[in-house]
Amino acid sequence: MIIVGVGGGIAAYKACALVRHFTERGHEVRVIPTESALKFVGAATFEALSGNPVQTSVFESVPEVPHVRLGQEADLVVIAPATADLMARAAQGRADDLLTGTLLTARCPVVFAPAMHTEMWEHPATRANVATLRERGAVVIEPASGRLTGKDTGAGRLPEPDEIGALADVLLEHPGALNRDLEGRTVVVSAGGTKEALDPVRYLTNRSSGKQGYALARLAAQRGARVVLVAGNTIGLADPPAVEVVRITSALDLQAAMAEHAAAADLVIMAAAVADYRPAEVATTKLKKGADGKSEALESITMVENPDVLAGLVAARRDGALRSDAVIVGFAAETGDARGTVLDYGRAKLQRKGCELLVLNAVGDGRAFEVDENSGWLLGADGGESALPLGSKSAMAARILDAASARLGPAR
Ligand code: CTP
Repeated sequence: MIIVGVGGGIAAYKACALVRHFTERGHEVRVIPTESALKFVGAATFEALSGNPVQTSVFESVPEVPHVRLGQEADLVVIAPATADLMARAAQGRADDLLTGTLLTARCPVVFAPAMHTEMWEHPATRANVATLRERGAVVIEPASGRLTGKDTGAGRLPEPDEIGALADVLLEHPGALNRDLEGRTVVVSAGGTKEALDPVRYLTNRSSGKQGYALARLAAQRGARVVLVAGNTIGLADPPAVEVVRITSALDLQAAMAEHAAAADLVIMAAAVADYRPAEVATTKLKKGADGKSEALESITMVENPDVLAGLVAARRDGALRSDAVIVGFAAETGDARGTVLDYGRAKLQRKGCELLVLNAVGDGRAFEVDENSGWLLGADGGESALPLGSKSAMAARILDAASARLGPAR
């Protein structure tokens, strides 16, 4: 059973969609709002969406001792929005309503999704409360930046319900997924496919969705890192909260963006699907068919090789353009054939590219591309090899970050 706790902030309306996110995935959901949350969204809405009664006080249904029963039965508590006041009360161990009382009896993972004005989020009192909650093992999600209640913008915005839901889902699948092991680190992730232009209306691209790279960037930010996501073509994925997104189009753009942003990085992850070749010439006007209905230029396109960005980053580190202790992670998508298995090709690629870790996905038959689940192996230059069991791309991202973070040198 999942408890959705709702604090009294304008973002309380987003809790409705979060309840939906969980019920649609088959979870039993209990909503526990604070008194002030009910000033923003009525109890009837939460009751209808969760299919369960809603109360705010321990003085209702007294014989059931609800704060003890609910806390004991919960597999996960997600509080969205978590207001400054609610986190202050939780950090102090207060139990002055059903939600804070339940927090003291719950032994399951607890996630706070803060939402407040930037000044309140940055206030030393709130910082101290967040630190206390994290020290005690709670997850406090990094808020998004953007439009706040009025005309102001800044950090403190509640992430979209599906973002919060995705973080809760991965926590249920991989309990260490949101620990804070990347605090103080800079992580650069590339994601999605490149587009190689042929003329002003045509380009060549590939089937990468960007989902794996976005999942890595999303989790790295929640694990405390400053994250730059260098994003190519994706299936319209939303920017993850607390991540700086740099958009690129071609492999050459990607190479330039990585050179710039990876220079100060502790961890560089090349999840982008880079086109190996690009058209030798980009026509400045549309390539047209002639009177005979044919176009020689489209019938045979001359291609030239793109740089290997990953191998280039490894070389740049050797030449001092990257931190000498930066950890570099590559990806490989292999099918295996008569000459070698997926693992044979993965091991050879790890050697050729010179990175510390290679995420090896078996592809073909609809696996890996454009789907939510993935499996494979994690190969280490130190000889370590582990299977990545079939799971969501978020759970896989958590395992990749576990392995990468274990290889990082001491923090600066
Ligand atoms: N990569 C890159 N630059 C390229 C091609 C690939 O940086 N021009 C990176 C990808 O981001 C990925 C890794 O290299 O991390 C593996 O990519 P892949 O295309 O599988 O490797 P290739 O070297 O192209 O090998 P092959 O096509 O022969 O399998």
